Amino acid sequence: MQVNTARLSAEINALSLISDAEPPAVTRIVFSERDHEAREWLKSRYREAGLEVREDPVGNTFARWPGASTQLPAIATGSHVDAIPHAGKYDGVVGVLGALEAIRTLQQNGFQPTRSIEIVQFTAEEPTRFGIGCIGSRLMSGTLDAASADALRDKQDQSLHNLRHNSGFSGDLAATRMLPGHYAGFVELHIEQGPFLERDGISIGAVTHIAAPATLRITFEGEGGHAGGRLMPGRRDSFCAAAEAVLAVERAALFTGAIDTVATVGTCEIYPGAVNSIPSRVRIEADIRDIEETRRDEVIAKIKTAVGEISVRRNVAANIQMLNADPPAACAPQIVSTIERVCQTEQISCKRMVSRAYHDSLFMARICPVAMIFIPCRDGVSHRPDEYASPKAIEAGVRVLAGTLSDLAS
Ligand code: GLV
Ligand code: MN
Ligand code: MN
Repeated sequence: MQVNTARLSAEINALSLISDAEPPAVTRIVFSERDHEAREWLKSRYREAGLEVREDPVGNTFARWPGASTQLPAIATGSHVDAIPHAGKYDGVVGVLGALEAIRTLQQNGFQPTRSIEIVQFTAEEPTRFGIGCIGSRLMSGTLDAASADALRDKQDQSLHNLRHNSGFSGDLAATRMLPGHYAGFVELHIEQGPFLERDGISIGAVTHIAAPATLRITFEGEGGHAGGRLMPGRRDSFCAAAEAVLAVERAALFTGAIDTVATVGTCEIYPGAVNSIPSRVRIEADIRDIEETRRDEVIAKIKTAVGEISVRRNVAANIQMLNADPPAACAPQIVSTIERVCQTEQISCKRMVSRAYHDSLFMARICPVAMIFIPCRDGVSHRPDEYASPKAIEAGVRVLAGTLSDLAS
């Protein structure tokens, strides 16, 4: 199968320019102007390919290539195009534009699907705006209920309900729900976001499991005041408490001794945020993951104990909110085997692996058999402007996706 790599690379570049950051960085936050522009641009690409486009009330977008048997459940593929602040061009995008290219490749080869093939472009895979990620796929799979989703608020205190309406997505969020059996399968193409494929010189990762993510929001409330006038004894500095908590998060992850345990504090908001003012309130968010859920939960318990101890010792109130704590997902063995078989036919090297990042596949696994196709990215770098996957690596991924979709849709 001949993939049009030049067209795909040009589209990846074009989409990366619809961004709120200076190239090569990409920032595309859900329900922003740029998100809207990217959605319109993508819908034009889908329609050019003759796909039927539909959007649900949260903005999940579906582009369907109808199969001969429209009553059979479709095969779905896709990913997301929202991007965290100062991200790269490939995270999510390879799975959306790669899916489009896979469909165009199959069309050009004269393939006639029996089952429909549908690209799903999920809303808000990234947690940037609302604190939790995969909002589109959580809603589709019934992991998040409509009322809780609509009540989510961003840092400007705008509700998801209002933001989606302002972006043109109306209707009851309950209508986003898909029942098990709606799709016969879901396959997501994605960059690995880790170093193993490149290190081992392997072109494709056939994902067998997706690690269990969790997010804690920890708020410390102490006492503010003048940085000069207020003497050190008796201070209740909430940022000092948070600083200790950040190190406690790192310690808790290291304590397991397992290479698969990771924990990160990636946000910190200081109030009032003036150099000459003692921080009275600080909010941090910790991201904790492991491929073993019980071990991840032990890390969370350790962090909670540490935060309690810091709070008492420093006389600073602490509040811990668990934003999400999801179980891991297993991919469907039959789709994993299909991916391996396609790699063999196409003479592309492949190995089984675990996804340490989360993806919409984690939630799609609750309503249909899923699998993921990973391709290497340079130095394993992701969530950075220098994220890079070579056209050759992407081409292999698209070829394997096309082969897998044709097998599943036949
Ligand atoms: C997804 O972007 C993740 O953080 O794993
Ligand atoms: Mn990401
Ligand atoms: Mn992603």
